[in-house]
Amino acid sequence: MGNSYFYPSLARDAGTCDRGQAAPLHGAYAGENVPNPLPQERNNQVSVMNLIAALESLAPELERGLDQALDLSKLEEIRVEFLGRKGRLAQIMARLPELSPEEKPAVGKKANEIKARLNTLFDAHKHTLEKSGEKAYLTRFDATLPGALPWLGSMHPISQVTEEICSVFEALGYDVVDGLEVETDFHNFQALNFPKDHPARDMQDTLYVNEGVVLRTHTSPMQVRSMLARKAPPLAIVAPGKVYRRDSDMTHSPMFHQIEGLLVDKGISLRDLRGSLTAFVRRLFGPAVGVRFRPSFFPFTEPSAEVDISCIMCSGKGALHGETCRVCKGTGWLEILGCGMVDPNVYKAVGFDEECTGFAFGLGVERVAMLKYGIGDLRLFFENNVRFLGQFA
Ligand code: PHE
Repeated sequence: MGNSYFYPSLARDAGTCDRGQAAPLHGAYAGENVPNPLPQERNNQVSVMNLIAALESLAPELERGLDQALDLSKLEEIRVEFLGRKGRLAQIMARLPELSPEEKPAVGKKANEIKARLNTLFDAHKHTLEKSGEKAYLTRFDATLPGALPWLGSMHPISQVTEEICSVFEALGYDVVDGLEVETDFHNFQALNFPKDHPARDMQDTLYVNEGVVLRTHTSPMQVRSMLARKAPPLAIVAPGKVYRRDSDMTHSPMFHQIEGLLVDKGISLRDLRGSLTAFVRRLFGPAVGVRFRPSFFPFTEPSAEVDISCIMCSGKGALHGETCRVCKGTGWLEILGCGMVDPNVYKAVGFDEECTGFAFGLGVERVAMLKYGIGDLRLFFENNVRFLGQFA
């Protein structure tokens, strides 16, 4: 191509004739009798006239482009093409320095007008597009559809039962305290009147961390810790938490939860123990439940007892639909907690006055939860099956 004409709107493919042919149309769009810049262009020199013509062609071309822009991303493409830093307007402006000083003001003024016009056209179209997008969205929007429910978490049943039990004792004036899961032999055994090499230690299937340090086998070390912390009676605490034993089957897990209770003052008797624990059990399982205290043994309580409640499956009858009850194995009773009057040796170990009296109790949370919800296999609590756990939400 011999002569390379200047045609700003076609800077990328300057000189192609199809655009040249389209040029007169632009003038017509602008509503003015603008001479076609091409024939007037000689020896590659810009003239005022062809810059103005090029400027005036921009608005109608933008309008045509806008008619094709049906979404905001296409609209942005067009904005870049016309108004961008290297866009058509900028390309025309880049030729301004080639004009003589007298010619510049007229073209500059025109350029500003055109720029304002392009911006107005562009903004108006953008506004229309946004509005129609909104309308289309609103016609698609169905206000009668149910909302998308977020996944709701819930408390684990063991945590729920723990809270429920603790809140019964809180209502009776007990404080809830936290304990340690790794304990010393002193707190877990010795201060609780388990002498070294005592056979009662074997009953506990202890997991040792190292010499003299164990994973606590029960929450009873919290009796020792809370008396050491308070230094003197009165005190009434419950201490929930995890405990560990080397044991695993349908009804035993190497990790499970207990809640320890301790009340110490002067003049506390077995009568208080029976009354408090009966009130607790009835609050938890209902006023009609039968309660019995059975003599038992723990090194840190004397006398000691185990508390049974009438079987919640067969209402204490021992049989259901003419068959032996599975849950209580026909006895009509279910063991629910261990308890007793605090042994004076424990007061001695923590430096409490041996005149004081009190009672302690301990219960397994999983066992209570299994009875409360009729769950046969304790391992379900630890498998994290959301369908199982979700039932307690
Ligand atoms: N710590 C005992 C156990 O784990 C339960 C218990 C606590 C018994 C307090 C009496 C008093 O078996």
